[in-house]
Amino acid sequence: MNIIVAVDKNWAIGKDNHLLVSIPKDQKLFRDETLGKVVIMGRKTLESLPGGQPLYGRKTIVLTRDPEFQAKGVTICHNVEEVLDAVKDTDPDDVFVAGGQQVYEALLPYCTVAHVTYIDYAYEADTHFVDLDQDPQWVMDVESDEETYFDLCYTFRRYVKKEQV
Ligand SMILES: NC(=O)c1ccc[n+]([C@@H]2O[C@H](COP(=O)([O-])OP(=O)(O)OC[C@H]3O[C@@H](n4cnc5c(N)ncnc54)[C@H](OP(=O)(O)O)[C@@H]3O)[C@@H](O)[C@H]2O)c1
Repeated sequence: MNIIVAVDKNWAIGKDNHLLVSIPKDQKLFRDETLGKVVIMGRKTLESLPGGQPLYGRKTIVLTRDPEFQAKGVTICHNVEEVLDAVKDTDPDDVFVAGGQQVYEALLPYCTVAHVTYIDYAYEADTHFVDLDQDPQWVMDVESDEETYFDLCYTFRRYVKKEQV
């Protein structure tokens, strides 16, 4: 399975249930990578999307512990085991863990590739991703040339679990 995440220089990912920043080229990359595939997200991230609606053209799996929770057009799972069961017949390359913090933490052990948009700026934030540069299990194997969006500098990075190198 893949992780797909945008982090700032402190590996922060969100504030007040919103993204820290929206960069058009990053949004396009997310769309291109995930279209036609499976995305897995937490209930809070689903609710942060426009209208609380799942993303068009992707099978969306939502994690919640609430047995009453319902949402149109998504597959609901109540624990990690149910998620793994829901994707067991899908090519793992076609499964993307799309946040937020809690769901990244729960599913990182099952992921072997992380697509990280690394934004060289420190935002005020309340949610974070694990710093893969400090995690001995992970190594960055590809980094794009530097991109800019107004005064922001960012790169697209790929990290792999070390056994996969
Ligand atoms: N930068 C990025 O790439 C990126 C991507 C996605 C999201 N984000 C940001 O991340 C922030 C949200 O992150 P978050 O950690 O607060 O929320 P989250 O992970 O999106 O959702 C948390 C919810 O998911 C459910 N959940 C989590 N772990 C579970 C488990 N093991 N089993 C069953 N259900 C589980 C629970 O739902 P219930 O409470 O319903 O039980 C929990 O409250 C927002 O600011 C969002 O914008 C950033």
